[in-house]
Amino acid sequence: MNQFSSKQSSSLNGVIEIPGDKSISQRVLILGSTAIGSTRIKGISYSDDVNNLIKNLKLLGVKIIKKKTSTIISGVGIGGLSSTKKNLYMGNSGTATRLMLGLLCNQNFETKFIGDKSLSNRNMHELIKPLRKMGAKINSKNNKLPIIIKGFNETMPIIYNQKNPSAQIKSAILIASLNSPGLTTIIENTPTRNHTEILLRKIGAKIQIKKFKKKKIIKITGQKELKAKNISIAGDPSAASIIGSAALITPESEIKIMKVNINKTRTTFFNILKKMNAKIKISNKKRISNEQVGDITFKSSNLKGVHLGKETVANMIDEIPIFSVLAAFAKGNSSFSGGSELRNKESDRIKSLYEGLTTCKIKVKKKNDGLQITGNKKINITRDVKIKTYCDHRIAMAFLVMGLASKKNIIIDNVNCIKTSFPNFVTIMKDIGANFSKKN
Ligand code: S3P
Repeated sequence: MNQFSSKQSSSLNGVIEIPGDKSISQRVLILGSTAIGSTRIKGISYSDDVNNLIKNLKLLGVKIIKKKTSTIISGVGIGGLSSTKKNLYMGNSGTATRLMLGLLCNQNFETKFIGDKSLSNRNMHELIKPLRKMGAKINSKNNKLPIIIKGFNETMPIIYNQKNPSAQIKSAILIASLNSPGLTTIIENTPTRNHTEILLRKIGAKIQIKKFKKKKIIKITGQKELKAKNISIAGDPSAASIIGSAALITPESEIKIMKVNINKTRTTFFNILKKMNAKIKISNKKRISNEQVGDITFKSSNLKGVHLGKETVANMIDEIPIFSVLAAFAKGNSSFSGGSELRNKESDRIKSLYEGLTTCKIKVKKKNDGLQITGNKKINITRDVKIKTYCDHRIAMAFLVMGLASKKNIIIDNVNCIKTSFPNFVTIMKDIGANFSKKN
C-alpha cells in the first residue's frame, strides 16, 4: 500500500535546504527541559522521531510551544519532571529512547517506554547495565521495549569504559549524571558524535574532555544548575549525504545544500567520498551555536571503491546504507567491517543491505560485521525489483537513490518510514528532478 518506486533520472539540479539535524534536535529538547529558563530553538527537525519526543516531554510536565519559525521550551530543572500514568510512545527512535532513559534515571517515579515494531526489537542491554549501576530500577523482558524505569533522586557517579562505540549510550550516561553528587567518567575508546558534550558545555554543565591518543576521556560533575540558551540547528549531515549521493550517481547533476552541520564527528562520510573520487566541495564555513556549519556542493562523479575499518564505520554509522549503494556504482571492490552495531539499528542493516543489493543483482558478500561489494558503474537490473525496508528509513532512502540510476523500477515496500527522519525527502527529491512515483 505504501510502496514507492524510483527510476533512472536524467539529471538532478538545485540549491536546497534540508531539515535540522535530528540528533541535535533531540538533545536540545531534552537538555532544554532540564535547564532553568526558556530555550528558543531555530531549525528543529520536524521528523516523527522529534515530534514524538516533544509529546513525551509534554507528558512529563515540560511546556513546549511550537511557533512558525521557532520552538520554545520552558525548562523545569534537573529532576523537575512530573510523573505520568501514560506510556511514553517512542515511535521508531533509539536515540530518544536511550536519552530519555538517561533523563528518567534522575526521577524517583516509574515510567513505561513503548515503541513501534522495529524499536521493540532493539536490544537496550548495553545501556541498561550502566543505568542500573547509577541506581535506576529497570524492568524489561530480554532488554527490549516495553521498559519500565524507576530512577533515583540522586544518581550514583560511575566510571564507564565504553567498549562498543555509541553516541546514544554515552549521551544517556551524561544525562543521567546530571543529578549525581559526584564525578562520572566516560572513557570513549572510539570517539563518536559529540553534540551532547557541546550543548552541555554551552548551558553551563561542569564537563571536561581530554584526548588521550585516540581515546576521549569525559568527566562530568552533576548537580550543577544548567542555564537555558537559544540554539540554532543547522541541516542534518546524514540527510545531506543521501541527497548529495543521488547527485554523484546521476549524470549531469549538481546540487548545493545550504547550511549543513559539518561538525568533525559527522563528516567522515564526506571525507570518504573524496577518497572515492567524488566531486564534493564545502564552502561558506561558519560557527553557529558552537557547531561548524557549511554549504556543500555535490556533482556527478566517477566513483572508485574504498575499504572502511571499525573506526571509520563508527563515525559514519548512519551513512553505511548510502555508502553501500554508492559502492555498487564504484569502480572495483569496496567493503566495510567492524560494524556489528549495524545489526541493532532501525533494522539489522547488514542483513537488509545484503538482501537489497542482492535483489538488485549486485555482487555482495556478507560477513558478521560488514559487507564486501563489487562495483559496476552500469547496474543491470532486467526487471522491476522490490526491496524490503524492514521499516528502516535509511534503507528506504538509500534504495530510492539507487533506483535513480536504474532502467527498471526499484520499488520499496514502505515509504512511510522515511518520515521518522526526513518527512520532505520525496518532495525535495522530486523538486530537484528525481523520477520518483507512488505505486498502488
Ligand atoms: C545517534 C547516534 C548513532 C546513530 C543514531 C543517532 C545519536 O548511534 O546511529 O542514528 O543521536 O546519538 P550510536 O549510538 O550507535 O552511535
